[in-house]
Amino acid sequence: LLINEKAFSDKCYLVGGVIRDALLDLTSADLDIVVEGKKNALSVASHISRKIKITYTAHQSFGTYVFKVSAKNCFCGFDIATARKENYPHPAALPVVNFDATIKDDLFRRDFTINAMAVPLAVIGKVSNQISYNDSGYFFYPESVIDLVGGMKDLSNGLIRVIHNNSFIDDPTRIIRAARFAARFGFKIEKNTLFLAKDEKVKMDAIPRLSNARIGNELILLSKEKYPLKTLHLLDELGVVKSFFPDINLDKFRRWIKDKRNKKTTFSYIGLLSELLSVVDIPSVDFLNKYSISRAIKKEVLSLLRRSYG
Ligand code: CTP
Repeated sequence: LLINEKAFSDKCYLVGGVIRDALLDLTSADLDIVVEGKKNALSVASHISRKIKITYTAHQSFGTYVFKVSAKNCFCGFDIATARKENYPHPAALPVVNFDATIKDDLFRRDFTINAMAVPLAVIGKVSNQISYNDSGYFFYPESVIDLVGGMKDLSNGLIRVIHNNSFIDDPTRIIRAARFAARFGFKIEKNTLFLAKDEKVKMDAIPRLSNARIGNELILLSKEKYPLKTLHLLDELGVVKSFFPDINLDKFRRWIKDKRNKKTTFSYIGLLSELLSVVDIPSVDFLNKYSISRAIKKEVLSLLRRSYG
């Protein structure tokens, strides 16, 4: 839709996870498109909405328009976002954004090098015959990737690396993201990034300033990972489990992880959450409420707990 409209494709870039996943030969559930200029982003969102007759949710303060598509075996959604610079007024604050930004500025504000690559829509090509049902039918050449921070090199070396030293102070949820990506792709967290994640200032000052709702959101994302136990184990190695979740009983938590990893247990995300509650020192419902877990998820978790333990 956008690729064929030169007026739009010149201003739009595919960014973040979709580029990382494509370079790893994986498919992504979500697409992130960045557009330079706030008015341009709005016209791109309106154009898509008109053409394919779907509505979007606008997050004006972030210049972002979110589309959800419910179709099997295809992208589940996409975001049209205005390129932005960010400034964090204090540790763990929501950023103050500035839309007077280029794609380069937008890439430098991101979490990890492997997530900070972009491809201009204008250079994306269409293959004449689709190889498989899963294949989108589109391609780009690696040479056309805008990679200002060594993302491709880190991707081939299997490394999770922050782009700047303040990354975890600005946004400590990125520590959980680092563990998720490391577990998901079997990557290592790069040495300086490890050092920064273990920094006492992050533990003592930044993480405690996060809202419980933001931590709860990360907990849900973590529990939906393919390897949630490995992710939790990595967080323990980083020494941050108690900082994010003070009610977790660390001894029970470690025994539980060890046992389940030895048995190679796999979980649904509801199953993972309900098991995690068995190593928490406060009542399950209080824990779920504390982290603002949605009513629907809470209901499923509590019902599974009742069925398992009566
Ligand atoms: N991002 C960031 N800091 C965060 C969250 C996100 O810099 N705390 C940036 C990253 O560039 C990321 C992009 O926003 O690639 C999109 O975020 P998200 O959709 O959460 O992650 P994906 O990288 O797409 O990973 P996933 O496969 O888990 O969806």
